[in-house]
Amino acid sequence: MQPSFWHDKWQQQQIGFHQQSINPYLIKFLPQLSLSANAQIFVPLCGKSLDMHYLTEQGYQVLGCELDASAIAQYLQEQQQQYTHSSDTDFNYFDAPQLHLVQGDFFKLQPQQLSRINGFYDRAALIAWPDEMRSQYAQKLAQLIPAGISGLLVTLDYPQAELSGPPFAVSDAWLQQHMATDFEIELLQSLDVLAENPRFVKKQVSWLNESVYLLRRKA
Ligand SMILES: C[S@@+](CC[C@H](N)C(=O)[O-])C[C@H]1O[C@@H](n2cnc3c(N)ncnc32)[C@H](O)[C@@H]1O
Repeated sequence: MQPSFWHDKWQQQQIGFHQQSINPYLIKFLPQLSLSANAQIFVPLCGKSLDMHYLTEQGYQVLGCELDASAIAQYLQEQQQQYTHSSDTDFNYFDAPQLHLVQGDFFKLQPQQLSRINGFYDRAALIAWPDEMRSQYAQKLAQLIPAGISGLLVTLDYPQAELSGPPFAVSDAWLQQHMATDFEIELLQSLDVLAENPRFVKKQVSWLNESVYLLRRKA
């Protein structure tokens, strides 16, 4: 996916991935991260996800990274968030008391920018990448996440030949092959969600599973 793909999506407001309510898996499994009060949670490819609002409501700090400037602007406006703005060569920074949004390319992030995170949350980020870029994303994530830090990962899997992404299918086998070297991987839940996804039903996709994993960056 080239940056222009996502900029076009945001410009045309074709943001079917955006959820109007808090992700139920986040509510259910966030305690698995055993976070202390005021912990900082990294949200890669954050869009304008309301899950960030949920995390700040729980008393956590959010560090989000998003490519598209209008996505960030929409989030700040819709949440009526007061913020300060700064920038450097690679990024724009939007800071509020519990919110730190970094607008720019995830691949340009440096490990020191994430040195104080206590957890991470990947919903619709890993599955946003086609196969060849997904492994690069997984490698970069491993480079950025400090040792010992845990996160939640939400994936979708379906017969890729039956529908073109995004979202792209990510199997358990793919995760094991590409992420198990760097992360301990624990499957927390896997559900058949075909009936709740009309786009997949309409395209006669034969099955669709949504899974939630607990990842822990190995030392
Ligand atoms: C499928 S959406 C998911 C958004 C969010 N995680 C959610 O659950 O609503 C993927 C997001 O990643 C952003 N994105 C794509 N490439 C990126 C990159 N290289 N760096 C940062 N963000 C990127 C897109 O603009 C888009 O908002």
